[in-house]
Amino acid sequence: MPESIEIDGLDEQAVHFIAREGEMVVGTARLRAIAGQTKGKAERVAVLSRFRGRGIGGRLMDVLEAEARELGLERVILHAQISALEFYLARGYIEEGPRFDEAGIVHQEMWLQIPSPCV
Ligand SMILES: CC(C)(COP(=O)(O)OP(=O)(O)OC[C@H]1O[C@@H](n2cnc3c(N)ncnc32)[C@H](O)[C@@H]1OP(=O)(O)O)[C@@H](O)C(=O)NCCC(=O)NCCS
Repeated sequence: MPESIEIDGLDEQAVHFIAREGEMVVGTARLRAIAGQTKGKAERVAVLSRFRGRGIGGRLMDVLEAEARELGLERVILHAQISALEFYLARGYIEEGPRFDEAGIVHQEMWLQIPSPCV
Protein backbone atom coordinates (compact mmCIF):
# COMPACT_ATOMS: atom_id res chain seq x y z
CA MET A 1 0.00 0.00 0.00
CA PRO A 2 1.37 3.46 -0.82
CA GLU A 3 2.16 5.62 2.20
CA SER A 4 -0.22 8.29 0.88
CA ILE A 5 -3.10 5.87 1.52
CA GLU A 6 -1.72 4.39 4.75
CA ILE A 7 -1.35 7.82 6.39
CA ASP A 8 -5.01 8.81 6.34
CA GLY A 9 -5.34 11.17 9.33
CA LEU A 10 -7.51 8.68 11.25
CA ASP A 11 -4.81 7.21 13.50
CA GLU A 12 -5.89 9.31 16.47
CA GLN A 13 -9.39 7.79 16.32
CA ALA A 14 -8.05 4.24 16.57
CA VAL A 15 -6.65 1.85 19.14
CA HIS A 16 -3.30 0.57 17.89
CA PHE A 17 -1.66 -2.81 18.40
CA ILE A 18 1.92 -3.78 17.69
CA ALA A 19 3.79 -7.04 17.86
CA ARG A 20 7.43 -6.76 18.87
CA GLU A 21 10.45 -8.97 18.57
CA GLY A 22 12.76 -7.37 21.10
CA GLU A 23 12.79 -3.68 20.21
CA MET A 24 11.67 -4.25 16.62
CA VAL A 25 8.05 -3.81 15.58
CA VAL A 26 7.20 -6.82 13.40
CA GLY A 27 3.40 -6.54 13.19
CA THR A 28 0.66 -3.92 13.36
CA ALA A 29 -3.09 -3.52 13.50
CA ARG A 30 -5.53 -0.81 14.45
CA LEU A 31 -9.20 -0.84 15.48
CA ARG A 32 -11.29 2.19 14.64
CA ALA A 33 -14.76 2.44 16.13
CA ILE A 34 -17.14 3.85 13.54
CA ALA A 35 -18.88 6.93 14.90
CA GLY A 36 -22.53 6.37 15.75
CA GLN A 37 -22.37 2.65 15.04
CA THR A 38 -21.75 -0.48 17.08
CA LYS A 39 -19.01 -1.69 14.81
CA GLY A 40 -15.31 -1.15 14.52
CA LYS A 41 -13.04 -1.52 11.53
CA ALA A 42 -9.82 -3.51 11.65
CA GLU A 43 -7.17 -1.83 9.56
CA ARG A 44 -3.41 -1.85 8.96
CA VAL A 45 -3.16 -5.57 9.74
CA ALA A 46 0.31 -6.55 8.62
CA VAL A 47 3.24 -8.68 9.70
CA LEU A 48 6.74 -8.27 8.29
CA SER A 49 7.19 -10.92 5.61
CA ARG A 50 9.95 -12.83 7.33
CA PHE A 51 7.89 -13.09 10.53
CA ARG A 52 4.75 -14.47 8.86
CA GLY A 53 3.41 -17.94 9.56
CA ARG A 54 4.39 -17.87 13.24
CA GLY A 55 1.02 -16.94 14.70
CA ILE A 56 1.74 -13.22 15.04
CA GLY A 57 -1.10 -12.04 12.76
CA GLY A 58 -3.51 -14.34 14.56
CA ARG A 59 -2.42 -13.01 17.94
CA LEU A 60 -2.82 -9.40 16.77
CA MET A 61 -6.39 -10.21 15.68
CA ASP A 62 -7.08 -12.00 18.99
CA VAL A 63 -6.15 -8.86 20.89
CA LEU A 64 -7.99 -6.54 18.48
CA GLU A 65 -11.18 -8.62 18.78
CA ALA A 66 -10.84 -8.70 22.58
CA GLU A 67 -10.56 -4.90 22.57
CA ALA A 68 -13.68 -4.66 20.38
CA ARG A 69 -15.50 -6.72 23.01
CA GLU A 70 -14.22 -4.50 25.81
CA LEU A 71 -15.46 -1.46 23.92
CA GLY A 72 -18.90 -3.06 23.61
CA LEU A 73 -18.73 -3.25 19.81
CA GLU A 74 -20.98 -5.82 18.18
CA ARG A 75 -19.02 -6.34 14.98
CA VAL A 76 -15.55 -6.04 13.60
CA ILE A 77 -15.54 -5.28 9.89
CA LEU A 78 -12.59 -5.11 7.53
CA HIS A 79 -11.60 -4.84 3.90
CA ALA A 80 -9.52 -7.95 3.26
CA GLN A 81 -6.97 -8.12 0.51
CA ILE A 82 -7.89 -11.23 -1.46
CA SER A 83 -4.50 -12.76 -0.65
CA ALA A 84 -5.47 -12.66 3.06
CA LEU A 85 -9.06 -13.89 2.61
CA GLU A 86 -8.29 -17.37 3.97
CA PHE A 87 -6.61 -15.90 7.04
CA TYR A 88 -9.86 -14.14 7.98
CA LEU A 89 -12.20 -16.95 6.87
CA ALA A 90 -10.32 -19.28 9.22
CA ARG A 91 -11.08 -16.85 12.05
CA GLY A 92 -14.82 -16.95 11.31
CA TYR A 93 -15.14 -13.72 9.30
CA ILE A 94 -18.00 -13.70 6.80
CA GLU A 95 -17.82 -12.21 3.32
CA GLU A 96 -20.25 -9.37 2.63
CA GLY A 97 -21.04 -7.91 -0.79
CA PRO A 98 -19.04 -7.91 -4.00
CA ARG A 99 -15.29 -7.66 -4.33
CA PHE A 100 -13.93 -4.22 -5.11
CA ASP A 101 -10.76 -2.40 -6.03
CA GLU A 102 -8.86 -0.36 -3.45
CA ALA A 103 -5.45 1.05 -4.43
CA GLY A 104 -5.29 -1.38 -7.35
CA ILE A 105 -5.77 -4.44 -5.11
CA VAL A 106 -8.91 -6.60 -5.07
CA HIS A 107 -10.60 -6.47 -1.66
CA GLN A 108 -13.53 -8.14 0.04
CA GLU A 109 -15.56 -6.65 2.89
CA MET A 110 -15.87 -9.11 5.79
CA TRP A 111 -17.35 -9.05 9.27
CA LEU A 112 -17.20 -10.95 12.55
CA GLN A 113 -19.86 -10.89 15.25
CA ILE A 114 -18.34 -10.08 18.64
CA PRO A 115 -19.93 -11.78 21.65
CA SER A 116 -21.23 -9.38 24.32
CA PRO A 117 -18.99 -8.85 27.34
CA CYS A 118 -19.98 -10.89 30.41
CA VAL A 119 -22.02 -8.91 32.92
C1 LIG B 1 -2.27 -11.70 6.57
C2 LIG B 1 -1.13 -11.63 7.58
C3 LIG B 1 -1.34 -10.44 8.52
C4 LIG B 1 -1.13 -12.93 8.42
O1 LIG B 1 -0.15 -12.83 9.43
P1 LIG B 1 0.66 -14.12 9.92
O2 LIG B 1 1.46 -13.74 11.11
O3 LIG B 1 1.40 -14.75 8.80
O4 LIG B 1 -0.55 -15.08 10.33
P2 LIG B 1 -0.52 -16.32 11.33
O5 LIG B 1 0.85 -16.93 11.33
O6 LIG B 1 -1.09 -15.89 12.64
O7 LIG B 1 -1.54 -17.29 10.59
C5 LIG B 1 -2.72 -17.75 11.19
C6 LIG B 1 -3.33 -18.77 10.26
O8 LIG B 1 -3.74 -18.14 9.04
C7 LIG B 1 -3.08 -18.75 7.94
N1 LIG B 1 -2.71 -17.69 7.03
C8 LIG B 1 -1.97 -16.62 7.32
N2 LIG B 1 -1.86 -15.83 6.24
C9 LIG B 1 -2.55 -16.44 5.27
C10 LIG B 1 -2.83 -16.09 3.94
N3 LIG B 1 -2.37 -14.97 3.37
N4 LIG B 1 -3.58 -16.97 3.22
C11 LIG B 1 -4.05 -18.10 3.77
N5 LIG B 1 -3.83 -18.46 5.05
C12 LIG B 1 -3.09 -17.63 5.78
C13 LIG B 1 -1.87 -19.44 8.53
O9 LIG B 1 -1.46 -20.51 7.72
C14 LIG B 1 -2.37 -19.89 9.86
O10 LIG B 1 -3.11 -21.07 9.76
P3 LIG B 1 -2.97 -22.23 10.87
O11 LIG B 1 -3.45 -21.60 12.16
O12 LIG B 1 -3.86 -23.29 10.35
O13 LIG B 1 -1.52 -22.56 10.91
C15 LIG B 1 0.25 -11.54 6.90
O14 LIG B 1 0.36 -12.61 5.97
C16 LIG B 1 0.50 -10.24 6.15
O15 LIG B 1 0.99 -9.27 6.76
N6 LIG B 1 0.20 -10.20 4.86
C17 LIG B 1 0.45 -9.02 4.05
C18 LIG B 1 -0.43 -7.87 4.44
C19 LIG B 1 -1.87 -8.25 4.39
O16 LIG B 1 -2.33 -8.91 3.47
N7 LIG B 1 -2.60 -7.79 5.41
C20 LIG B 1 -4.00 -7.98 5.46
C21 LIG B 1 -4.63 -6.84 4.76
S1 LIG B 1 -6.36 -6.99 4.74
